[in-house]
Parts: sequence; C-alpha cells; structure tokens
Amino acid sequence: MIRHKEPVITIDGASGTGKGTVSQMLATRLGWKFLDSGALYRVLALAAQKHSVAFNNEKALEVLAEHLDVQFIARENKLPLIILEGEDVTETIRTESIGNAASIIAALPAVRASLLSRQRSFRETPGLVADGRDMGTVVFPDAELKIFLTASPEERALRRYNQLKERGISVSLGDLIKELRERDRRDQERSVAPLKPAEDAVMIDTDRLTIEEVVDRILSELEGNAVKKAFPATASQTMFDCAGVGVAE
Ligand code: C5P
Repeated sequence: MIRHKEPVITIDGASGTGKGTVSQMLATRLGWKFLDSGALYRVLALAAQKHSVAFNNEKALEVLAEHLDVQFIARENKLPLIILEGEDVTETIRTESIGNAASIIAALPAVRASLLSRQRSFRETPGLVADGRDMGTVVFPDAELKIFLTASPEERALRRYNQLKERGISVSLGDLIKELRERDRRDQERSVAPLKPAEDAVMIDTDRLTIEEVVDRILSELEGNAVKKAFPATASQTMFDCAGVGVAE
C-alpha cells in the first residue's frame, strides 16, 4: 500500500526574520502541527552544557542527540512547552548564549544526521509547518510549499532587541547586530545543510511587512500552489474545510 504523505510547508530563513512567529501563526490558522527545529538544536546545546559535553565533541553530541529526552507540548497561540529530562526549559533555551551554542553544534554533520528522523517524525495529519534553516533543502525536500524569509540584519537585530526588552533582558543593539552577522556566517558557510533557499522556494522579504501580512501571503501561495497540485481540486477543498482554514483572499 502506498503511504499517503501529509502536506508540509517549510519556512526557512535566518534568525530574526520572524520565522518562528509566522510559522506558529500559520500552523494555528491551518490547524496543522508545528516543528520548531531550532529549538531542537537549542535543547541539544543545553543538554550538552548540563552533561558537560564539549561543543566540539561530535561523537558525544551525536550520542546525546540520539538519546535526547525531549518533549514538545503544543499550546494554543503560544510556542510549545519544551521539556528536557522532565524539566521545563521553554525559556532557558531562548538566551543568546544557548542560541550561539546551538549554531556551533549545528555545524557538526553527525549532530545534524542524528536529528533528522526526529524532525521528520513531526510530519503528522493533517499537515506540518516546519520552521528552520534546512527544512526545504534537506529535511522535507518534498514539501508542498517552501518559503524562504529574508530581512535586513538591522531590522532583524531590532526585532530581537524588542523581544528581549519585552522579557526584561537588556542588551546592546550593536552587539546583537554583530552576533547576528556571526551566526549568519556560521549558518551559511557550514559544509552540511548551509542556510540557503531551496531552488523551488518562494522568497519573501519581511522588512516592510507585518507578521499577519507574511502569513496571509503564505496562505495565498498555498491556495494557488502545491497543495492544490498534490490533491485533486475537490479533495483540496475538503482538506481546507476540515482544517478550518481561512485562506486569505
Ligand atoms: O532558529 P533558532 O535561532 O532557534 O536556531 C538556533 C540555531 O540552530 C541557528 O542559529 C542554527 O545554527 C541552528 N539551526 C540549524 N538548522 C535548523 C534550525 C536551527 O542549523 N533547521
């Protein structure tokens, strides 16, 4: 029997392009599952820190990734609750230092390979919105719709600055821009799964768009694009109806 594959929308791009919020909102609007793949790399970095595994010890990190005891618990209109070894780490993994550590371990091929099947296991009925760097190029190359979000480094740093300020964390904007550029360089230059758009990705520059405008743009791409091709017209209509999708006019 041929296994029917659930539809996937991949949202890739650098940090600060609004990927996380856009993906989560999109998943809610569609009633689909949500994968925050960056959180997996962040959880692994935190686990490494906790178990005193060096960020360059590829073999030990590979083993740690394979046995990572992590759960993502979906919540309404919020990023999922993340539990590592029974402890709530939802907030702990969002610091700049864990983000940087995540980007260092994410450059190791064995680490990426050992997280592949875990990421693919998020593909469930009725569909998945997958947020990351290599969702469209490596993890879900057969996705129905691939989006690549861009924004200028200054705009991305400003968004991050405001997010941190909201949480009462004070940082220098200049330092944030510097760190973003460094993280971009590492993500783009690594030998495996570098940050780059898939050949068939739709590029969206988010500099002058609100989150809602980006989500609406993606929903209209979806309406006119891949899911329609993958399913006959009537079936795709039924699927939208079931998911309670308000596809943008
Ligand atoms: O998206 P987020 O900032 O949470 O990701 C943290 C780091 O994890 C990124 O800087 C990137 O290096 C890495 N990452 C990755 N591939 C993904 C998601 C994140 O390499 N699919």
